[in-house]
Amino acid sequence: MLKLYFLSFRPDAQDSALYALLPEDVQRRCARIKRPVQSRAIAMGHLLTRYALSQAAGCAPEEIIIERAPTGKPYSPNLGLEWSLSHTAGAAAVCVDRAPVGVDVERLAPMRRRVLARVFTEREREYVLSGQGGQDRRFFEVWTRKEAAVKRDGRGLSINLLEVDTFSDTFGTLTTFREGGYIVSVCAANPLDEKDIVCLDESALFHFFKKH
Ligand SMILES: CC(C)(COP(=O)(O)OP(=O)(O)OC[C@H]1O[C@@H](n2cnc3c(N)ncnc32)[C@H](O)[C@@H]1OP(=O)(O)O)[C@@H](O)C(=O)NCCC(=O)NCCS
Repeated sequence: MLKLYFLSFRPDAQDSALYALLPEDVQRRCARIKRPVQSRAIAMGHLLTRYALSQAAGCAPEEIIIERAPTGKPYSPNLGLEWSLSHTAGAAAVCVDRAPVGVDVERLAPMRRRVLARVFTEREREYVLSGQGGQDRRFFEVWTRKEAAVKRDGRGLSINLLEVDTFSDTFGTLTTFREGGYIVSVCAANPLDEKDIVCLDESALFHFFKKH
């Protein structure tokens, strides 16, 4: 049942119609955020979550209840499904399964050497820095794998990231792939098969919500 929903969208479009589709508490949260790019990513992430859960559970998006554990991890008490959300400028990803899952999406960019030094294990650093090219890609591969593992675990920032070794399967099975300019990793009970990735853009998402 493991499935990944990946959404690409214009990071900085002005779109009041989008905010009208959100529940009031999410609208209020978005309004408090000063950076429009971040506010839009949260809004898109929220809509993608409702889309993904309604597809996976076979129910209407308005039937979905989203609550939040004290650690910050969101969950839906009435569905019998586990899920995880990640959003960044221009992309969001939601992973759904019957067992706990974690997902992280990051835009491919130059690697951050301070993060590499601070939170990557020795083996992860060696892997990133090995070879001539591809260091930025390997950096974000490890970064997203670490974040996906942390999300699956659910404890959030109270975990010591140095103890999350992405070369072991202690936290779950990790799968990474590239989608346009983004790197996405999933941490789940089983590997994610490429055929179980659903890609959509913002117009498909709006079309879906207009029908509901
Ligand atoms: C909050 C955290 C869970 C993810 O944050 P992030 O990577 O900045 O942002 P993402 O968009 O990928 O994820 C945010 C989503 O994670 C989910 N989330 C929040 N707390 C969570 C937790 N304890 N467990 C699982 N998921 C959680 C939420 O759905 C949140 O989105 P929402 O608030 O809009 O509902 C946390 O792991 C974090 O801040 N990590 C950064 C640590 C770091 O420095 N990493 C360096 C590279 S390894």
